[in-house]
Amino acid sequence: MLITIEGIDGCGKSTLTKGLGDALADLSPLFTREPGSTWIGDQVRRGIAEEIDPIAEALLFVADHAAHLAEVIRPALAESRLVISDRYSDSRYAYQQVTLAPYLHDPLLWLRSVHGSWTRQPDRTYLLIIPVEDALERLDGKDGREHFEQGVVLEQVQKNYLLLAEEDPQRFVLVDALQEKEKICSFIAGDIRQLFQSSQ
Ligand code: TMP
Repeated sequence: MLITIEGIDGCGKSTLTKGLGDALADLSPLFTREPGSTWIGDQVRRGIAEEIDPIAEALLFVADHAAHLAEVIRPALAESRLVISDRYSDSRYAYQQVTLAPYLHDPLLWLRSVHGSWTRQPDRTYLLIIPVEDALERLDGKDGREHFEQGVVLEQVQKNYLLLAEEDPQRFVLVDALQEKEKICSFIAGDIRQLFQSSQ
């Protein structure tokens, strides 16, 4: 079963993922992420840091996704494992829709057509929602902001996420990221456990 965790920078995904590691340890989940599960992920991070051309950047994210699926996700799913990915295709649909807007007539359509025939849809996606000003406050403690981590960009990215969730309410679960982190973690862990056990 494939679970994904999504949300804007500063929404608390990393803390949540750590918490889920403890809460779901008995199910031996495989934790993975985009970008970064293969060597292509390192090139993506370089691309982000160097602020390369947005189309090149988008295609690097897609290349990382293809390698991630082939090398990490599909083999684990073939063994019926619980796979939890910190970011996945919805990150592309939400973020690259913003960065590609000046270059393409319909970035979402383009991004979907690039993934469409070969990606694997998540079984459930938890979307952490947070007011952008709170996310920026959390990011202020971090050294050097990536170009995505600007208020106007994150505002649009979060809107895109909400539209994606509206389109697919069966898959998305919206979570208020301002709640206590223990509460968020135990709610999501309980939901994943139930879903995973009912699929066995
Ligand atoms: P991270 O902070 O979760 O490691 O992700 C790095 C940045 O890359 C973050 O600002 C979100 C962005 N990103 C995209 O723009 N598109 C994508 O497809 C992915 C996976 C991440």
